Amino acid sequence: MSDKKATLKVDGLDETIELPVYSGTLGPDVIDVGALTSRDMFTYDPGFVSTAACESKITYIDGGKGILLHRGYPIDQLAEHSDYLETCYLLLYGELPTAEQKETFVSTVKRHTMVHEQIRTFFNGFRRDAHPMAVMCGVVGALSAFYHDSLDISDEHHRQVAAFRLIAKMPTLAAMSYKFSIGQPFMYPDNNMGYAENFLHMMFGNPCEPSNVSPVLARAMDRIFLLHADHEQNASTSTVRLAGSSGANPFACIAAGIAALWGPSHGGANEAVLEMLEEIGDVSRIDEFVSRAKDKDDPFRLMGFGHRVYKNFDPRAKVMKEAADDVLAELGIENDPLLAIAKRLEQIALEDPYFIERKLYPNVDFYSGIILKAIGIPTSMFTVIFAVGRTVGWIAHWHEMISGSYRIGRPRQLYTGHTQRDFVALEKRG
Ligand code: SDX
Repeated sequence: MSDKKATLKVDGLDETIELPVYSGTLGPDVIDVGALTSRDMFTYDPGFVSTAACESKITYIDGGKGILLHRGYPIDQLAEHSDYLETCYLLLYGELPTAEQKETFVSTVKRHTMVHEQIRTFFNGFRRDAHPMAVMCGVVGALSAFYHDSLDISDEHHRQVAAFRLIAKMPTLAAMSYKFSIGQPFMYPDNNMGYAENFLHMMFGNPCEPSNVSPVLARAMDRIFLLHADHEQNASTSTVRLAGSSGANPFACIAAGIAALWGPSHGGANEAVLEMLEEIGDVSRIDEFVSRAKDKDDPFRLMGFGHRVYKNFDPRAKVMKEAADDVLAELGIENDPLLAIAKRLEQIALEDPYFIERKLYPNVDFYSGIILKAIGIPTSMFTVIFAVGRTVGWIAHWHEMISGSYRIGRPRQLYTGHTQRDFVALEKRG
């Protein structure tokens, strides 16, 4: 923390208010506004556009420069040289693991991939056509009904066990939500496989024949998980922190994060991007949709464009775009029509003054759907994939908060409703 100060002059107040200013290692300074409460005043920042809700050491984003660091390591270097479970270790413990540490971490995750057999019957309560995200909200929240031995958030061992259980079981539950929707039998995890390979095995394997997961697809899937692993105080991570601040158990907190992620303005955008590209259907119709996106009277927005923080290319979108080219080429999918529409749409949007003035660039969701579709993931499962990848980020932030000093999150408001008035008996109302 620094000894810098901000001095606030408020009309109607005789004295100025001195507020401490803190500097981080990177990024903007923050003004501690705690002293305003004693002056019977609040800050007002709907959408938390310029509000730092916490101190964190996990992820740093420079939206102007398009920089994303996980514990100081650039996302493009991690995407090229690391893998998802190694990035999980980094996010959780703050350092890249040694070979021995990585081997122990990976084998521990592998020993938690199965779910309680009763959870299989839990699925039967859903309709077969339930959206997989609806199923995931329910099933992940229900984990706290199965794992009573890792709910004491004040116990570091419980926190560690819950973290391993969530990271290990999310792919199993995600694949189960897909299998349930298509009426196929659940596949048990195969712990001889890698994390992403095992997920694709559980998604597309069946008990009648051995699994044969393409290493190309497994690598692409692992990179998708890695690119979605964490993104500082985004809406779903802030939801997890707020739920955790009340002392709720980690499974309930992660279920809250899944629910927040589902929205089309957030993690639901990858599904919405594919639906948009399919609705556009042909490059000749792009101008019509770009016009709609610019029309204030039309609720349509270009899904996969824009970001609260990035006012430059989302570095994950760059990696995703390269991966899309690689995966489609390696799969021999030449001239994918949706990729052609996406690339043309990106080019038009980046030349259009409306998007340039508002610094609207492609975000992580713009290209991810094309890779997921090429891998064979159904569109309804796109946000579930995002949730699987982001689970480690949610847990890392939850653990950072719970293992430090924290208070229950309880925002205030600007009240513009009625002043006090007396009750009116029914017979006297107009
Ligand atoms: C994710 O926070 C994170 O880190 C999220 C995420 C993560 O990893 O956790 O990165 C993942 O959620 C990525 C974002 C995915 N969502 C979408 O692709 C949906 C489309 N994008 C928009 O809904 C929007 O850009 C948001 C929600 C992403 C950001 O919204 P903001 O910051 O509140 O910005 P805004 O709505 O105030 O927009 C500013 C201006 C407005 O125009 P004006 O009123 O100034 O004239 O830009 C316009 C908006 O109308 N605008 C768009 C647009 N996005 C913003 N216009 C057309 N198409 C768009 N996509």
